[in-house]
Amino acid sequence: MTSLSKPTISSQSFPATGSRLPTAHLRQSMTECRESTLALFKGMDYETLCCQAHPDFSPVGWHLGHIAYTESLWLLERSAGYPSQFPEYHRLFAADVLPKVDRVKLPTLPEIKDYLGTIREQVFAYLAIAPIEQQERLWRWLLQHESQHCETIAIVLAIKAQQETLQFLPLGPCPLPRSAERSRRSLSPYPMIQIPAGTVEMGHDAIAALDNERPIHRVDLETFWIDRYPVTCEQYRLFMQADGYQTAAYWSVEGWQWLQQHLVTQPFYWSNHSTYDLHPVCGVSWYEAEAYANFVGKRLPTEAEWEKAAAWKSAAQLPLSFPWGNEPPSPLLCNYGHKVGQTTPVNAYPQGASPFGCYDTIGNVWEWTSSWFRGYPDFASYPYHGYSQTYFDDQHRVLRGGSWATRSWALRNTFRNWYYPHVREIFAGFRCAQNSH
Ligand code: AVJ
Ligand code: FE
Repeated sequence: MTSLSKPTISSQSFPATGSRLPTAHLRQSMTECRESTLALFKGMDYETLCCQAHPDFSPVGWHLGHIAYTESLWLLERSAGYPSQFPEYHRLFAADVLPKVDRVKLPTLPEIKDYLGTIREQVFAYLAIAPIEQQERLWRWLLQHESQHCETIAIVLAIKAQQETLQFLPLGPCPLPRSAERSRRSLSPYPMIQIPAGTVEMGHDAIAALDNERPIHRVDLETFWIDRYPVTCEQYRLFMQADGYQTAAYWSVEGWQWLQQHLVTQPFYWSNHSTYDLHPVCGVSWYEAEAYANFVGKRLPTEAEWEKAAAWKSAAQLPLSFPWGNEPPSPLLCNYGHKVGQTTPVNAYPQGASPFGCYDTIGNVWEWTSSWFRGYPDFASYPYHGYSQTYFDDQHRVLRGGSWATRSWALRNTFRNWYYPHVREIFAGFRCAQNSH
């Protein structure tokens, strides 16, 4: 112990050999993520770039600029200490300056792409010298930030396409995977799975964990039942045919009130075509999910129940990062990252099932849970109060699992998404649960 030298200034300000790996890995992930981002904008006209398709969502061009702005703010200004650049873009692309309706006058696509490129060039120059061992959490956060905004971009494009064609969209350009073709057979009788009572640990603490996943903590759960699959269009059609949307008894007071104000009669992304019978319902509000669950005499799972069903084998074993294990998502295991470009039948990915036997917990559609979005015990904000904590207001419900449009960086069993219960343009479905007695 006596021969240990004090760290010198240079060993603190320059990356040690051990940090080369995360640096190279980050660089590669960021490049990959950005390529998928730009692919969404290929050939896009200016009108589409600036169009506010829905009052709850900003134009896609705003999201693109906001991705560059956020990278610049956190890495170049806050971490590297460079003076702020493009002050006019600060006003335009910060999340807390302009209201959504004022985000429609945007630079052209080439101009926004230049902005992205200029920032990225400096970011990579900084990455080569950054003290990555102290900053890795922030860089991993930014990858997830870009991924999440790109899912929102996909949603806005889907809303727009839906308005223009009045067809079930998004219908991607890609054919369904072979396993999906084989799985068109009926699923009935849609079995449920019994999950035995017991304590599990919930949450995630690794370097990529978001503030709202931390800290890991124990939860006690009673025995419960959970659907093997997300609710399918075939199942949901029975609710519609039974006048589900016209029967107050299935709806909560708030849900019924919302329904009277919006006169909704089907999910936002809906087709009556039998092709979609085994696809999950996509584009429902939390209220619709709750009403359907009431209709079939079930309930929505809590997020703890959902996580247990997706991640746990038994109390004696550690939770899995993904239902299939700890290897990252791939097109054989789940429907994610625009690789298919639309929803798939809920039984298309048997290799992606959880140890308890739940299909499609990761990918295909986000799943509403009954839980309010709240901080776990001893929650601490990262990287800023407004990322998660602002939404711990008992007005937002938690969704789990990711959709066909979610990139791998925002996919894992512990990942939490949140929206107001009336939002239905997102790629969201649900599965039901039931008490065991
Ligand atoms: C968690 C998807 C609801 O898009 O508003 C992006 C994620 N937060 N930038 C959102 C987020 C800040 C957030 N959602
Ligand atoms: Fe953001």
